[in-house]
Amino acid sequence: MEEREFTQGNQTSLLGYLKSMRETRDILSWCNREFVNDTARTFFKHLLFWSMLSRAVSLAYPYLMGMGIDGLYQHNLTFAIIAVVGIALTYVLGSVFEWRAGHFIELTLGENLRTMDHRINKIFFAKNLGLHLEEGGKLTQENMEKGWNRFDMVQKSILFSGVDSGLTLVLSLLMLFLISPVCCLIIAATLVGNFLISLSLNRLVTVYMEPVESMFRALTRKRGERWQGVERVVTSGRDGEEIEVMNQEFTKALEADRKIWLAYIRGTMPRSLLAGFSVTLAGLYAGWRVWEGHMAVVDVVPILTWAGMASQQMRFLARVEREVNWCTPSLKSLRHSLSLPNQLAQIDQPIVLNDGPVEVEFDGLGHSYDHKRHAKNGSAVQVLSGLTFTVRPGEKIALIGPSGAGKSTVTRLVQRYMDPEQGVIRVNGRDLREISLSSWRRLVGYIPQTARVFDGTLRDNLLYSLSSADRAQISDEQIWEIMRLLRIDFGARLTHGLDTRVGRNGVKLSGGEAQRVMIGAAAIKRPRFMIIDEATSSLDAENQAAVQSGIDQLLAQEEASAIIIAHRLSTVLRCDTFVVLKPVDSLAPGESQIETIAHSVPELFARSEIFRTLAKLEGVSLAA
Ligand SMILES: Nc1ncnc2c1ncn2[C@@H]1O[C@H](COP(=O)(O)OP(=O)(O)OP(=O)(O)O)[C@@H](O)[C@H]1O
Ligand SMILES: [Mg+2]
Repeated sequence: MEEREFTQGNQTSLLGYLKSMRETRDILSWCNREFVNDTARTFFKHLLFWSMLSRAVSLAYPYLMGMGIDGLYQHNLTFAIIAVVGIALTYVLGSVFEWRAGHFIELTLGENLRTMDHRINKIFFAKNLGLHLEEGGKLTQENMEKGWNRFDMVQKSILFSGVDSGLTLVLSLLMLFLISPVCCLIIAATLVGNFLISLSLNRLVTVYMEPVESMFRALTRKRGERWQGVERVVTSGRDGEEIEVMNQEFTKALEADRKIWLAYIRGTMPRSLLAGFSVTLAGLYAGWRVWEGHMAVVDVVPILTWAGMASQQMRFLARVEREVNWCTPSLKSLRHSLSLPNQLAQIDQPIVLNDGPVEVEFDGLGHSYDHKRHAKNGSAVQVLSGLTFTVRPGEKIALIGPSGAGKSTVTRLVQRYMDPEQGVIRVNGRDLREISLSSWRRLVGYIPQTARVFDGTLRDNLLYSLSSADRAQISDEQIWEIMRLLRIDFGARLTHGLDTRVGRNGVKLSGGEAQRVMIGAAAIKRPRFMIIDEATSSLDAENQAAVQSGIDQLLAQEEASAIIIAHRLSTVLRCDTFVVLKPVDSLAPGESQIETIAHSVPELFARSEIFRTLAKLEGVSLAA
């Protein structure tokens, strides 16, 4: 991480200050645009109205106090009675107005949170999956959560304190102006001083906080990963070291963080001094006016109270500003991730695929994940190169090749996680980029290399890829039928049948059981194109054979095509076609990665050196 050296003296020009202020403003107005809807705006208007009344009533209090003292002093019963009744009324009305204001604060907060939650989810899931796979990308859980929390903090700070303080400041200056314009001017002048101090403090935070925030984010990500991977940490005997390293990293981030905030807090001191000075000056002026006989002594009470209130509000507003500044880097990061452009080429009227047999054609496919990464010879590090083959309706294709050859990448491209850099994928003769992705996804069943079972029941997991209408229609008997076929019927372990809970991340399932649940979930969709990526690697030989024949039956029923990837050759020998990939680093630039395409095992054995080597290592005989 790039760490900027922090020295308090090097905050540059006023132009720089203004730029960082503009950035904070831009981020807040982005939040406002994205996360504040019309309903919340209406609530906010109500909130302003009631807060204004509540503040006005509280400001009347010192005036009435002055009037009461005056009444007592001059034996003027009317004044005294007005003052007492008025003060009682300010309490009653004040409570009612505050209740209404509080009511609308709550409604505004809730509405904004709801909108934000919804927007973030919507934008997060709408990003193409390739973006989520990017190393160092900002589309991460930590980034989203932190932005979420910081937005909540900013809105609470503004709604609970900012609005109240802002209104009190404006109203007390107004009241001061009515009684003594000069006192009002004195207090208002401190506003300018406050503004200038804020500019420099704001710069301090926005410039230096960002690298510190990113240190904290990296730490949170690492901590989360280690917590999730508690098993690996402890069984590797690394727990003690991990705790120490995390503590050191945290201390380092904290020290950088502290440097900034201590300077910030030190920088706020002149603000308090300025406030004290201005109230004293206003008091001196009022005292002088009374001394000279130009002002009633009772006017000094409201003048001093309002002057004090106004400068106190400036302090409160500074606190709000500090909180906003504190949150800005995370909000900036959230804005950055949510604004990442979708990498998929979009067309206006995509072709909608109907249910039916599917043919998928890979034509000269080439891809690299990171364009900026270059091999020693200066070319981009290719993952796929010159891949050309077709999966016909009902055909089962085995994708064979060494680890890292790009097999899973093919499955990602065919599901449009990203568009290929070279070549075209066609579905039923049409470029995949012209096809409605949701209609394509309805036809595809995908069993990923790593099982991802969600907390919930077995039924929830099995029906996960069905639409709500289909979920409502499918009967338990149909589910059990598929479960039996794919060996998901775990017998007595299913204590509550389909409603047995599988635990967080499927923790209550064995590796092989989780894999079978994933296979079931893809099969229950009755897809027309199945992608099976190492789906049976955790199964024993007997279960694997049974599950395999279950999958074969299901594929045959739907006349479905399939791409099947497996390291164990016995898994793929029943396929119709075999595509063998060469290791990508053995290729000349632009050379096709396909070593052999064969249509039977003997042909494969005769033509593919890679296959012969693998078969020998696994002891697979041709008779298999
Ligand atoms: N998200 C990613 N970002 C950058 N590079 C990646 C990413 N995913 C995979 N790669 C790289 O792409 C290459 C192909 O990966 P892929 O997962 O497609 O291989 P594979 O053939 O499925 O391997 P395996 O048999 O081990 O599953 C690998 O060298 C890998 O390092
Ligand atoms: Mg893979």
